[in-house]
Amino acid sequence: MGNIVLIGFMGAGKSTVARTLSELRGYRVLEMDAMIEEREGMTIPEIFRTRGEAYFRDAETKLLRELEASDGTVVSCGGGTPLRPENLAPMHAIGPVVWLEASPETVLERVREDHSRPLLENNKNAAFIAQMLEGRRPKYEAAADLRITTDGKTAREICRELLEKL
Ligand code: S3P
Repeated sequence: MGNIVLIGFMGAGKSTVARTLSELRGYRVLEMDAMIEEREGMTIPEIFRTRGEAYFRDAETKLLRELEASDGTVVSCGGGTPLRPENLAPMHAIGPVVWLEASPETVLERVREDHSRPLLENNKNAAFIAQMLEGRRPKYEAAADLRITTDGKTAREICRELLEKL
């Protein structure tokens, strides 16, 4: 059945889509953020606060190189994983890279009540999100084999479209 690598901005729905792919088709899910939290024995906000973002990015790159994605695995990346050029080869080695795209308004809606994302913690407004998204867009574009727009779609609809286009 192959593997799938999910990328996209915070709140684009990577984790939800990974979980739904698991329910619908039995994919095994590797959630990079959760794996880093487990390895470090800290939450993401704690890692950012006590070690800094660069430390987290190094942990991300290291994990990606070490990931063992047997057939039928969905890897849900962190929102910033495709930003480092050296992360792209290990991502593509795992499987097709699918970019879940969401508008700033959709992102805002999905992250509003959440406190697990240090980069958005004091910046929960559409203007900030739009600016950050635009800055990252070329990197997501460069990394992606396939792009799916998620605005106004349910997780099941997104999964159906993804599996159809893959
Ligand atoms: C980040 C996204 C987060 C997490 C960290 C940094 C980013 O993952 O890796 O807070 O730089 O976009 P999610 O996209 O799963 O929220």
